[in-house]
Amino acid sequence: MNFNLSEEHLMIQQAARDFAQAELLPGVIERDEKQQFPTEQIRKMGELGFLGMMVDPKYGGSGLDTISYVLAMEEISKIDASASVVMSVNNSLVCWGLQTFGSEEQKQKYLPKLATGQEIGAFCLSEPEAGSDATSQRTTAIDMGDHYLLNGTKNWITNGSTASVYIVIAQTDVDKKHKGINAIIVEKGMPGFEIGPKEQKLGIRGSDTHSLMFTDVKVPKENRIGEDGFGFTFAMKTLAGGRIGIASQALGIASGAYELALKYSKERKAFGKEISSHQAIAFKLADMAVEIEAARHLCMKAAWDKDQHKNYDLSGAMAKLYASQVAMDTTIEAVQIHGGNGYVKEYHVERLMRDAKITQIYEGTSEIQKIVISRSILSK
Ligand code: CAA
Repeated sequence: MNFNLSEEHLMIQQAARDFAQAELLPGVIERDEKQQFPTEQIRKMGELGFLGMMVDPKYGGSGLDTISYVLAMEEISKIDASASVVMSVNNSLVCWGLQTFGSEEQKQKYLPKLATGQEIGAFCLSEPEAGSDATSQRTTAIDMGDHYLLNGTKNWITNGSTASVYIVIAQTDVDKKHKGINAIIVEKGMPGFEIGPKEQKLGIRGSDTHSLMFTDVKVPKENRIGEDGFGFTFAMKTLAGGRIGIASQALGIASGAYELALKYSKERKAFGKEISSHQAIAFKLADMAVEIEAARHLCMKAAWDKDQHKNYDLSGAMAKLYASQVAMDTTIEAVQIHGGNGYVKEYHVERLMRDAKITQIYEGTSEIQKIVISRSILSK
């Protein structure tokens, strides 16, 4: 067993850290306040290869492993979780799904632009009546011979208005239940496709989250991913990898808050000494450090499982469940360590606390992760 990162991994980690400091930190408070999408920053992330990290270079990607992706996600998320959710969805749910299950034509058509950030992708599973209960899809993609006729509404879609390529999960044959679901690629501008207003959110406010409405949208048959009826399996397999991305986002939010709290505790004085010299604060820092390290190991283990072509449903769900709890706990304590300053925007920790909450909700709530974990351990 080797816990050392390779030279290449360290370089990627450093590149992501430098990028986050130089390009994401300036303006992050303002973007959060104004709910402003980080357009320019995402463009640069695309140029640097952060949006198609695991995509084969022959389709314009960086050709890196999942460990590299986790390292970069942590660094970007320390500073700006709104930018990192764009990165996570584009990498895990869109590019990886297309590369792994798409046809050669689909890969050639969509991946080069998605992997370089010239276009952004969205993954559309959730509906007003189907969030956690993903098999209950109401959106329909009726087989009309040479095309599908798409009707329905999707909710809480990350990159809802900035995306150009949307992978939409829809029911083709109701009688077949989840085996009658398909994943189809919808392009922005297809007649009948409308984007609803932007959601006003508690956290990750720089990312754009929208409802999408489809009314008699004609989607060519060649836009279906995989065989007829493969859509639910596609969604589950893709989400399993997505959970590693969100676990790393949670890890980054936690470690970002911890680093700020550690620094602050060495500068701020109370009762005649640095607050880090008070055990009440030192013990909080100790708890944070242990929990973050444990979360990092779970993220790395899940990434390693994926890179070794082992099953990562269980390790990915464990990483997401634990890291998102650590993100919540750590950010709350980071605000506490900062005292009154923690409640003020310029100290960043209040934003990280708000951003942390979503990691327990999207790509499967904590309760969904417990379903995945318990089913896996009980079936053994
Ligand atoms: N890989 C492959 N197949 C899988 C699978 C996996 N990881 N998990 C389940 N399946 C298959 C099962 O084998 C089963 O197939 P068969 O009938 O052929 O055996 C089928 O899928 C149905 O499985 P279940 O009976 O287990 O289905 P369920 O209704 O009990 O639900 C669930 C399972 C795990 C709860 C699932 O519904 C789920 O993951 N829900 C959460 C959905 C989710 O994560 N939503 C997030 C939206 S995306 C998002 O947030 C993106 C964003 O914007 C950031």
